[in-house]
Amino acid sequence: MTPVETIVESRQRCEQCGTTIGELDLAPACPQCGGLLEMVNPIVESAVALRARFAGRRAALRGPDASGVWRYRELVMPSVQPSAIVSHPEGNTPLLSRAALSEWTGVEDLLIKHEGHNPTGSFKDRGMTVATTQAVRTGARAVACASTGNTSASLAAYAAQARLPAFVFVPAGNVALGKLAQTLAYGAKTLLVRGNFDACLTLAREASAALGIALLNSINPFRLEGQKTIVFELLEQLDWQPPDWIALPAGNLGNTSAFGKALREAHQIGLIDRMPRIAAVQARGAAPFSQSFQRGFGERIRVEPDTIATAIRIGDPASWDRAVRAIRETNGVVTDVSDAEILEAKAVIDAAGVGCEPASAASVAGVARLRREGVIAANERVVAVLTGNLLKDPGAIVKYHQETEPAPARANRPIEIDARLSEVERVLELTRT
Ligand code: F0G
Repeated sequence: MTPVETIVESRQRCEQCGTTIGELDLAPACPQCGGLLEMVNPIVESAVALRARFAGRRAALRGPDASGVWRYRELVMPSVQPSAIVSHPEGNTPLLSRAALSEWTGVEDLLIKHEGHNPTGSFKDRGMTVATTQAVRTGARAVACASTGNTSASLAAYAAQARLPAFVFVPAGNVALGKLAQTLAYGAKTLLVRGNFDACLTLAREASAALGIALLNSINPFRLEGQKTIVFELLEQLDWQPPDWIALPAGNLGNTSAFGKALREAHQIGLIDRMPRIAAVQARGAAPFSQSFQRGFGERIRVEPDTIATAIRIGDPASWDRAVRAIRETNGVVTDVSDAEILEAKAVIDAAGVGCEPASAASVAGVARLRREGVIAANERVVAVLTGNLLKDPGAIVKYHQETEPAPARANRPIEIDARLSEVERVLELTRT
């Protein structure tokens, strides 16, 4: 180990009143005012030295250096002993370009950061490896989260690896099949709550405080530290030349906040010389943040959420204030897209051979909308983040391609046939005409 990894000490700081507490303090919120906590990590190396250190680790075949989260650990959890890290590993997700997506959005230089390539199929693994590592090193007895499905799948997998009991609170009837299946399979105690995600989070907060269970939702500052590495990794993949825009789907606003913090820190350290603009995209039926943005963020809005993109079916986002800061500091924008726009974007992404879950497609649908409105220029470089894997929500796919009447324009209807060559010939004829 180098001295850098042993001498630094991080602090947790209240975003509202500035009170600081130790890195290993178990308080789930500020003990003075109840505000959300954020991590402050001392930076002891120059940008040049950090870049060289990160690049040097890329060759690692095993261990923390092979993780796309822990490779950046000086900016995530500098004090951690590598032997204490609970890692799958995770990250190392591709940055793709596809002509079909550039054509559909009207943005030629569109890159896709596909977080669905993480071990449990979503970006949540990046935050969960850090939050689970922290839970273990602070001696947690059990871990819990409220979730629309991906956080619970990820928590269940990392808790299983760390041999910690896990409790998840999910909205009954509104979790995509793949996510529910994962959560059960990885062995988490799964509570189907009669209520929406916002009710689940309130209950999970109450239960974890009353029962002494570590809450690993994105209000946990360690989650955001891990999620920052989506930005660090994509910047490194671009040789630290920042794009003009980074677009992402927004629900509980943890990821929007993490992206803002990552860009702020990368800029302060000198890893990048200018800030990309964040474009946060909500589903129209669950768009309190977008509505508030259009009114200059004058007031905090709450809505009764409804969208087919169940991952972002959230009406009262928890990380509101820090997401406002992220949008303001990056000169960012917030927009919303209809379920029809989400489904069309998803069909294009899927048919390009890339594939994602419905909520993820909101980022690409948002890019297309912002291009049409002239907010994004045709020659700008845009990175759109796909947050979850195609297999997360098979129900939405079957409904779109097989069941929706009349068939949507991009539906790929299956054809049932008798087991005869003539039948296959008939289908081939149909395909030719
Ligand atoms: N995309 C996917 C696939 C998600 O699962 C989520 C959130 C988001 C985007 C939005 O990110 O909440 O940080 O703004 N899923 C959470 C969950 C709520 O419980 O899995 P956010």
